[in-house]
Amino acid sequence: MKLAIIGTGYVGLVTGACLAETGHSVTCADIDAQKIRQLQDGIIPIYEPGLEEIVVRNRKKKRLHFTTDMSGTVREAQIVMIAVGTPTQPNGAADLTAVFAVADIVAANLSSYKIVVNKSTVPVGTADAVRQRIGKIAKEEFDVVSNPEFLKEGDAVNDFLKPDRIIVGVASERAEKLMRELYAPFVRTGHPILVMDIRSAEVTKYAANGFLATKITFMNELANLCELVGADITSIRLGIGSDKRIGEHFLFPGVGYGGSCFPKDVKAMIKTAQDHKAPLKILEAVDEANAVQRLKIVEKVLQHYGENLRGRVFAIWGLAFKARTDDMREAASIYTIESLSGRGAEIQAYDPKALEEARKILGNHITYFDDDYEALAGADALLILTEWAEFREPDFEQVKQRLKEPIIFDGRNLYEPERMRDLGFTYYSIGRATIRCGR
Ligand SMILES: NC(=O)c1ccc[n+]([C@@H]2O[C@H](COP(=O)([O-])OP(=O)(O)OC[C@H]3O[C@@H](n4cnc5c(N)ncnc54)[C@H](O)[C@@H]3O)[C@@H](O)[C@H]2O)c1
Repeated sequence: MKLAIIGTGYVGLVTGACLAETGHSVTCADIDAQKIRQLQDGIIPIYEPGLEEIVVRNRKKKRLHFTTDMSGTVREAQIVMIAVGTPTQPNGAADLTAVFAVADIVAANLSSYKIVVNKSTVPVGTADAVRQRIGKIAKEEFDVVSNPEFLKEGDAVNDFLKPDRIIVGVASERAEKLMRELYAPFVRTGHPILVMDIRSAEVTKYAANGFLATKITFMNELANLCELVGADITSIRLGIGSDKRIGEHFLFPGVGYGGSCFPKDVKAMIKTAQDHKAPLKILEAVDEANAVQRLKIVEKVLQHYGENLRGRVFAIWGLAFKARTDDMREAASIYTIESLSGRGAEIQAYDPKALEEARKILGNHITYFDDDYEALAGADALLILTEWAEFREPDFEQVKQRLKEPIIFDGRNLYEPERMRDLGFTYYSIGRATIRCGR
């Protein structure tokens, strides 16, 4: 089939590359001319494990193309997928400007029957709005389908190629048949394509992210309680995670959830629920608790040093919102760094992949290092904000030598507190007893 993917970001590029991998002819289009130029030159603008290999292979096979010509791409395609951003508006609602802009391009270029697939995360009712918008102008038949994406950054290619499930919200048998054909290569091991009505598909995406954000936040708040009552969140995590009804995933406490999805999707779902006078109070609490949690490490730093941080230098390992991605959107590091800098501290930061993205957001008022140990030189303490694998077994002697004092604030619980005691560190983590050097 000829496929058009409009919006070539994390979702669009991964989707386009993975669909090309199954033999389709895919054109990825975007309004960002620089991004498209890079892709045409073989440069992958994001870091995502395994993605470059698939993009290169399918470009060589001439199955994957990049363009800024959205009209031409739509005209040629049988299926048009919308994968543009849906950022948060000041009132919490998802901004659908880009989705509707694409719908208008589709409307103006509907040369034959097409399926318009919405992969962007959008509030319930958006597919109907898109259908109306296209229907006002279009002369040819078309179907609008909701096909929310569940890939997670850091493992996006794997998630797309081997999804737990594929959600397809349809209103016609014709669209269902084509969508089943499109996704058949990805469900050969038996994972289901769940076909449902369009509105349920739209809500399913928010329900999944809202539930996961709630799970994380529950553990974060529980971790805070553990610190006060002398319990250890790791034991509790294992204790409840082994219960099949609860499950072991998304139970790791830390510095709050971030990234391009959970924060905005939780806010958008709260707004939808409020608009329908059926408030989702649990998500309102999650959103509020997360805003506190992402400053948890700052709270511990202030406990240790007091409010005035002038003259203090902190090394930070990990800027990306999570490991295996360079995505900095809503990363806890941004909030932590702004708060520490605002109190006069200097920051020396290292991240294996996100330095370039971090520079765009944090600018020049912090110092960036290409080497993790160099970032420690002369710092008062080390703060760990992302769970990159390479931070799990550092050379602790070197860490000690380079820091002014052996102090670690670990926002990801990477180390065993008892081990840190033996190594002579003062060690703060989340939901576990603080280890004080020499005690
Ligand atoms: N990133 C994820 O992990 C993830 C996972 C599941 C779902 N989603 C959802 O998928 C959607 C896209 O997310 P993303 O992370 O890929 O965003 P992104 O910001 O990485 O990419 C969006 C792309 O759309 C392009 N764009 C914006 N307006 C456009 C327009 N009018 N015409 C053409 N292109 C346009 C941008 O230039 C950008 O390249 C969002 O709704 C998001 O919530 C994201």
